[in-house]
Amino acid sequence: MPGFANPLETWNARFAGDDYLFGEEPNDFVQREAPRLPRGATVLCVADGEGRNSVWLAQQGHAVTAFDFAPNAVAKAKRLAAARNVAVDHRIGDVYDWPWTAAQYDAVVVVFIQFVPPEERGAVFAGLRAAMKPGGLLLLEGYRPEQVDYGTGGPPRREHMYTREWLAHEFADWDVLLLDAYDAEVREGRGHRGMSALVDLVARRPAA
Ligand SMILES: C[S@@+](CC[C@H](N)C(=O)[O-])C[C@H]1O[C@@H](n2cnc3c(N)ncnc32)[C@H](O)[C@@H]1O
Repeated sequence: MPGFANPLETWNARFAGDDYLFGEEPNDFVQREAPRLPRGATVLCVADGEGRNSVWLAQQGHAVTAFDFAPNAVAKAKRLAAARNVAVDHRIGDVYDWPWTAAQYDAVVVVFIQFVPPEERGAVFAGLRAAMKPGGLLLLEGYRPEQVDYGTGGPPRREHMYTREWLAHEFADWDVLLLDAYDAEVREGRGHRGMSALVDLVARRPAA
């Protein structure tokens, strides 16, 4: 990750323990918005960590591919899938060289990728867009800059966060189904805990 020393080693070490840093239950936003997905959707979970979201989506009957760059996280994601008796295509991969156009999905799920610095965001978001089929859905939850004052998750860098206005501008050419900026209590393992400044986006890629 540009801007941080040894981000891969840092993240991998965070995932070295037996517990699940962000818990084993899916993110609330993912749970709330997943009913918008068509039955048996193909889904890509980006920087999926220890698999809480990918595994839950597979339990809902979706065909899920997920990647994260930390091998310890991917190993635990595979264990969670096995424990829940579902199949997920869990891979080791980096957002900065993921083959975004190699496959297109009915939905792309992106939860808390605030590690991406502003100078890399354009390229990463171009990748996310390209990974969606025409008519496909992007489900994205991130932190707003105010999150740095809460200090309850995410890096202490305002410029890594999204404003509602930035997302509205970025997806002005898509059908925005939900764009909500709000504060809420988050309880996701040890990693995300307490009042948080969130922004949720659900947007549909225009049909070709
Ligand atoms: C805050 S966690 C969120 C994990 C997951 N989305 C969730 O909600 O549980 C951020 C994740 O990004 C991963 N990550 C950081 N830099 C990455 C990169 N360059 N490519 C892929 N994954 C990365 C970390 O390993 C970590 O799992």
